[in-house]
Amino acid sequence: MRKPILIANWKMNGSLHSNQALLVRMLAKLRPFRKAVDIAICPPFPYLFQVRDLLGYTGIALGAQNASSAVSGAHTGEVSATMLEEMGCRYVLVGHSERRASYYESDTDVAARFRQVVSAGMTPVLCVGETLEEREQNETLAVIERQLRAVIDTTGISSLAGSIVAYEPVWAIGTGKTASPGQVAETHRGIRGFLENCQRGAGDSTRIVYGGSVKAVNAAELFQSEEVDGGLIGGASLQAEEFSAIGSALTGAKPDGSSDSFPPESSGLAIPDS
Ligand code: PGA
Repeated sequence: MRKPILIANWKMNGSLHSNQALLVRMLAKLRPFRKAVDIAICPPFPYLFQVRDLLGYTGIALGAQNASSAVSGAHTGEVSATMLEEMGCRYVLVGHSERRASYYESDTDVAARFRQVVSAGMTPVLCVGETLEEREQNETLAVIERQLRAVIDTTGISSLAGSIVAYEPVWAIGTGKTASPGQVAETHRGIRGFLENCQRGAGDSTRIVYGGSVKAVNAAELFQSEEVDGGLIGGASLQAEEFSAIGSALTGAKPDGSSDSFPPESSGLAIPDS
């Protein structure tokens, strides 16, 4: 059984004041779901310390939005994976479409960043997805397979199978347009089939989450398919009520989530029963 996961991607939003207000409300509302569902919050880099302290021993994990492809050295503006690990991060987004499109991160670059995250002992969340034009040309799976293959060629299929894949159609991110539940299930099935072909068992073990305008109103239907292991939530993760309603929809769609944890939690914050 794959444990469902909900990941908040705050992107470049927030302030010391608003983060605190948001988290105080959000943590109270997420309390009922935190055992059935893995939850991670990915704030901008400067707020990692603040968010880590506010998360405390809630069992909700800290994540980052990117990591450098280099270990250390003369890379102005970059943040290394080991620094993120030292800050308490357990998850790191890599290859988000905003990074690929606006900051020219190539498949090779994304694969190098993925490798650093794995080497530092954290779980990468590899974002993949097609543009509208690529979907209309029937290239969705070809594009995603190319993005996955770049990582497999660099770190191997086992590393990918231990990570999280986020299917995020570029045309659905921040646009208010959502892929239909059928499109999501079909693409997730395609990704799983590709992974399974690369290595037996890899399709079954990899958590594949959906991202792209997930909101309280559409979460339940998007999470309904057994192919969907959770969500990567942008805009709606900036509102406590919306995000917790999405958590509720995920828990409702995956009622067995609390019975097992796969992949096993290996590091990060403790989860006391308080
Ligand atoms: P969105 O963003 O939920 O605002 O569409 C998702 C993402 O970019 O991860």
